[in-house]
Amino acid sequence: ASTIAYRASLLDSLGDPAEVGLEHSCRYFEDGLLVVENGRILAIGPANELLPTLAADIPVHHFKDALITPGFIDTHIHYPQTGILGAYGNQLLDWLENHTFPAEQAFASREHADQVADVFLGELLRNGTTTAMVFGTVHPESVDAFFNKAATLNLRMIAGKVLMDRNAPSTLTDTPEQGYQDSKALIERWHGKGRLHYAVTPRFAPACSHEQLARAGQLLSEYEGLYLQTHLAENTREIEWVKTLFPDQGGYLDVYDHHGLLGKRSVFAHGLHLCDDEWKRLAETRSAIAFCPTSNLFLGSGVFNLTRAEHEGVCVGMGTDVGAGTSFSMLQTLNEAYKVMQLQHQPLHPFKSFYLATLGGARALELDQQIGTLEPGSEADFVVLDYAATPLLAFRMQQAQSLEERLFVLMTLGDDRAVKATFVMGERAHSRT
Ligand code: GUN
Ligand code: FE
Repeated sequence: ASTIAYRASLLDSLGDPAEVGLEHSCRYFEDGLLVVENGRILAIGPANELLPTLAADIPVHHFKDALITPGFIDTHIHYPQTGILGAYGNQLLDWLENHTFPAEQAFASREHADQVADVFLGELLRNGTTTAMVFGTVHPESVDAFFNKAATLNLRMIAGKVLMDRNAPSTLTDTPEQGYQDSKALIERWHGKGRLHYAVTPRFAPACSHEQLARAGQLLSEYEGLYLQTHLAENTREIEWVKTLFPDQGGYLDVYDHHGLLGKRSVFAHGLHLCDDEWKRLAETRSAIAFCPTSNLFLGSGVFNLTRAEHEGVCVGMGTDVGAGTSFSMLQTLNEAYKVMQLQHQPLHPFKSFYLATLGGARALELDQQIGTLEPGSEADFVVLDYAATPLLAFRMQQAQSLEERLFVLMTLGDDRAVKATFVMGERAHSRT
């Protein structure tokens, strides 16, 4: 067996602060030891207790001035939009037409898809994100390129081919039958292979006909353990458009509900403008929402009501939503989440933020038995955060004494520079140089 130990401060989340209380929501060892064996976590505890129990030949790597946490989980992101971050001036529907669709057309080329998948996964790892739920484009090759690269890196990833058969350029549309067949072939090829999972991916209601959404529902019923990812109630113009496109449905969510797309492995991005019934239905069906603060601000879409989600019992994970989102960094995403909640006079506690980016995300994806904590038995996907990554961070940390303050400062000032190393299944997949 290959065993190795890491000594540093250790932090993981034990539960949602809203359910278990702030004090019980985190496990922390100021001087801790994380023992990893064959890609899984073997033990976690205080260094002074665990060190004497280790066999003499087990190497111990000491990270000084560092905090080890579980790898971050990004529940909503578009890898083909890596090249369009920071596109000026538009809100959702114009942004899609002017920036997104042109960029996605290039993914008809497998070579281009391979290149972007490489850059994208490199960015995730540089930012400490070890699992993500990822949109491809309409081209099945885009998903082959993505999964191929993710498999090489041994990452736990969820992805799918976009389904869209209307209201998009003809080079980017499929048909209900073609979309169904292409998805089926990708599911057979990738779903459950190693650490990979497939997500049925209707882009959003305006780009999908009734027939296409019905075929998406059919796929979900035909295979075990599939995910569903789409967008929901992001922008007010979009919502009005859905009403005119689907006059017989009770609202935006009902369009998806009608076709059996809600459920435990379904993740809806945004959910900014929901009515009472929609909150209830999301909770009832155990569907999750991806909270994407940088995107919601960048496109001027609105302000997510996390407090309402908590009260309604709707599961939430964090999403960067790159390229409408402006950062791959989960730390920066939490920075913006805090500000969004400040606007609502609901300051987001760093333990809650940390929960959302780790265990909460894992729960939203039904993967909390595998990832999201440092619990023995779980997969050894973790990050080493550097309290001294920049001169300012180091200086600021001298003033910050408590764990909560240090964590909060990391989230506010930190970005990819604060990620010293990222480990995937116990192997070092990124080191900051
Ligand atoms: N709604 C439909 N497609 C998209 C997309 O690519 N990004 C965002 N933010 N919203 C969408
Ligand atoms: Fe999105």
